[in-house]
Amino acid sequence: MNMRGVILAGGKGTRLGELTRVTNKHLLPVGPYPMVYHPLKKLVGAGLRDILLVSGTEHMGDFVELLGSGREHQCSLTYRVQDEAGGIAQALGLAELFCANVRCAVILGDNIFLDPLAPLLEEANRHPDFAWVALKRVPDPGRYGVAEVVGNRIVSIEEKPAQPKSDLAVAGIYVYPPDVFQIIHTLKPSRRGELEITDVNRWYLERGRLGWSFLHGYWTDAGTPESLALANRLVMELPPRY
Ligand code: G1P
Repeated sequence: MNMRGVILAGGKGTRLGELTRVTNKHLLPVGPYPMVYHPLKKLVGAGLRDILLVSGTEHMGDFVELLGSGREHQCSLTYRVQDEAGGIAQALGLAELFCANVRCAVILGDNIFLDPLAPLLEEANRHPDFAWVALKRVPDPGRYGVAEVVGNRIVSIEEKPAQPKSDLAVAGIYVYPPDVFQIIHTLKPSRRGELEITDVNRWYLERGRLGWSFLHGYWTDAGTPESLALANRLVMELPPRY
């Protein structure tokens, strides 16, 4: 498969308060592992061997110390520094050279989910020139990107809407064709001052090039004290499938 993996593990983790005062969110424990192991194991489990990790300057050394070359995880790791937190799409933009001419599977480092990645990638592979997102029904969609699905098509996608049009959160698991980087170059910062991945996804939607799948098992982010506790409970009760 002509695809590379990208783990986005930047950000300040401010919503976690004191927990991220001296470390990066993605190094905090989720079940038996540091959080970042989960997306890494998903990508490796799906057969991806070339993986890029993007994080800020503050804790990049800790990621390198923890994961090294990737050899212990049966992959080859590349690291790129995000000088300042500028949003998920900005962080993904740093993968441009790494993913030149190949598709990329992107996982936000704080997304914890049960489903193995391989079957999801197979669904994404049906349309290699499409972007692809994973959707999950949640009780609090306003915290996330929200997709509205009619029939089997996504008809709208909004970032943290005050009045969500559905209860379908867009999970932080994406596949993009190589032209994603051209789109990222055209983005303007949102009201929260970030380049939004939702704007990237909407670009594909408007051109009839956005595919999607449902996640069957549990999914949560782990960026708040409550969701970090939930992620730990879920992983301890039923380990994610890699
Ligand atoms: C980000 C994305 C959002 C997505 C979420 C998944 O939100 O912007 O669309 O639903 O990740 O975890 P953030 O956690 O950066 O607020």
